[in-house]
Amino acid sequence: MWRSVWARLASQRITITDVLEAVDSLKTVDALKIVPICEGFGADVQGVNLAALADDAFRAIYEAWLTYGVLRFKGQSLDKDSLQTFSQRFGPLEEMPTGRMSAAQKAKIDNLYVTPISNIKVAGKPIGGLGDAEATWHSDMTYIETPPPASVLLGVEIPQNGGDTFFADQRAALAWLPQALRERITGLTIKHNAAHDSVGNLRPGFDAFDDVRDAPGAIHSMVRVHNETGEECLYLGRREWAYVPGLPLEESEALLDDLWAYATPVDYVVEQNWTPGDVIIWDNRRCLHKRTSIDPSQRRLLLRCQVLARVSG
Ligand SMILES: [Fe+2]
Repeated sequence: MWRSVWARLASQRITITDVLEAVDSLKTVDALKIVPICEGFGADVQGVNLAALADDAFRAIYEAWLTYGVLRFKGQSLDKDSLQTFSQRFGPLEEMPTGRMSAAQKAKIDNLYVTPISNIKVAGKPIGGLGDAEATWHSDMTYIETPPPASVLLGVEIPQNGGDTFFADQRAALAWLPQALRERITGLTIKHNAAHDSVGNLRPGFDAFDDVRDAPGAIHSMVRVHNETGEECLYLGRREWAYVPGLPLEESEALLDDLWAYATPVDYVVEQNWTPGDVIIWDNRRCLHKRTSIDPSQRRLLLRCQVLARVSG
């Protein structure tokens, strides 16, 4: 019998290595367990090593990411390069902007696709972005025409308290809107301010302004159809400096306040209290996120990759 099996394998040019790899990948997918956090939103993924991810396991993770919007992996051992390798399976990665850096600063960068998010200072200079401040609810980079669909964070140094990250399901938020409000926003858009970062600081190259109607940035529909799942989600971006084009200022402010009251449905919020080795990937088309402030006396270091949209066609 074995002779005929080997003959069949040989005739199809399948090597024993191919067979062992196939068995290994089956084992990986078998061990992978998806444990939902909220109903239909957020999941813990267990039994997987992101530093050595088989294709089948990645496909299962990608599917779970589209299904649950936020995935959490605990106890991972990733460095910058392996975080980059994992993240770029979801799409091309954003490159760190280096235009304003000196040659000496550029030379110190060991990975252009992995950005430190940190309050740590070395010789008085911050090693990463966002510092200690709280970041209010937002979706990443909605101020550009094609925002990144995915963001990935790895916990490296974690303070004893503060710096927690929260995610809110915008599919559930849209479903929660009263009928009249849902009908009112049909066809409406929001202008997403490009001038300030997620902790409220003016970005380099932008001038300060007082009137939200003067804020520069991309305009997107309030209800966004997810381009991969086809599901509708509320797409608010950020409350601060937002404006509904075509409405008088007071009306725009009142409508945005009304919508934001429904943006974080309590049963559809995932809370992430970091430990080193945690990896989170979330879908910016599906959720808002925020983080609490950090005690300046405690060090916090996370590493981030931003996954850009694939160019279609
Ligand atoms: Fe963010």
